[in-house]
Amino acid sequence: MKPARPLPAVMVLAGALGILGQSRAPGEDAVPSLAAVYKPYFPVGAAVEPETLSLQGDLLAAQVNSLVAENAMKWQVIHPRPGNDPSAYNFSRADEIVAFARQHGMRMRGHTLVWHQQVPARLFRGAGGAASRQEVLDRLRDHITTLLTRYTGAVDAWDVVNEAISDTGAWRTDSPWYQAAGADLDNDGIPDYIVEAFRFARAADPSARLFYNDYNIEAGAKREAALRLVKALKAKGLVDGVGIQGHWSIFGVQPEVVRQAIRQLAALGVEVQITELDLSTYQWGDSSSRPALAPDLERRQAESYGALFEVFRQEAGPGGLTGVTFWGIADDHTWLDAFPVPGRKDWPLLFDVDHKPKPAFWSVVRW
Ligand code: G3I
Repeated sequence: MKPARPLPAVMVLAGALGILGQSRAPGEDAVPSLAAVYKPYFPVGAAVEPETLSLQGDLLAAQVNSLVAENAMKWQVIHPRPGNDPSAYNFSRADEIVAFARQHGMRMRGHTLVWHQQVPARLFRGAGGAASRQEVLDRLRDHITTLLTRYTGAVDAWDVVNEAISDTGAWRTDSPWYQAAGADLDNDGIPDYIVEAFRFARAADPSARLFYNDYNIEAGAKREAALRLVKALKAKGLVDGVGIQGHWSIFGVQPEVVRQAIRQLAALGVEVQITELDLSTYQWGDSSSRPALAPDLERRQAESYGALFEVFRQEAGPGGLTGVTFWGIADDHTWLDAFPVPGRKDWPLLFDVDHKPKPAFWSVVRW
């Protein structure tokens, strides 16, 4: 087809040199943008570190319209020193990510304010041993207020509380947060630190959408517990959304189960997002290693991603699924290289280690 208007010479040259978008060999398809393809449905995001902005910046700029800090906004990283003076914080890594998002017109999710991991032990210590419940809640309020005030307008959705429910559906009692302020003094069925965290966040930035975020909440007792928690928080006007993390395996992903969970959570009047999506190419419990991603597994991964995104498109909308964020963008940077088998290579994302689209990518953008 003849273009309506001839392309300016500079664009023709840039295209020929591969400067515009991704370069491609003759006969190869142009690589569409996930963000553009999914614009009618929901924003598509990726978790990043400052280092991955350098390593994968072009790919991220071309593919996603939303970012989340993989680690840079967690307590241990952003608030490494005691107290609440500016000198107690290290905003530089988070600020780099915020600046990149701004520069590229991307939105940002904030991750995460209350988690039992990557939180300094000193928070739970006081003068005479363990810190009092009030001391811990005061520290939490200061931390949340500082972060949400600083990033008002830059971060539009926060994972306020992450992973407060155990795999059995009970509260995670081994969390230092639970141990310090997990009592339910007001008898509302929710450990107080959870409610207080949402209250502090609401007060600090009333414009931010506040999320409860967790893994494995799409099924079983953990889903029931998440539904109870979100219902109770919603009744208090404190929660706006739920994040289903989405760390699944190509051997176990169940798109229809995910669909039901999205519907059940959305029926509570909150938005639902997939917040940390990746599909490991190993079965859970398998500690063997493979030297490369075999074609049959690559195909299986493509089918799994394709089936999931079909559900995501069907459930998209303001009263349903409002965002999908990958936990990374390309296989050269993934937390799964360190977990559950340290040093074992995994290939869970849509782009390979050379930033080329995998079959999984094509099954997500073509249906
Ligand atoms: O930055 C230090 C570095 O200074 C040190 O030399 C090195 C030695 O181990 O550790 C580095 O910190 C690591 C950090 O990632 C940054 O790379 C930590 O050890 C490592 O434990 C940490 O892992 C992160 C993990 O959360 C923490 O439990 C992963 O990158 C991150 O992807 C992962 O993300 C979580 C979500 O926040 C919540 N949901 C589950 C998800 C996967 O576990």
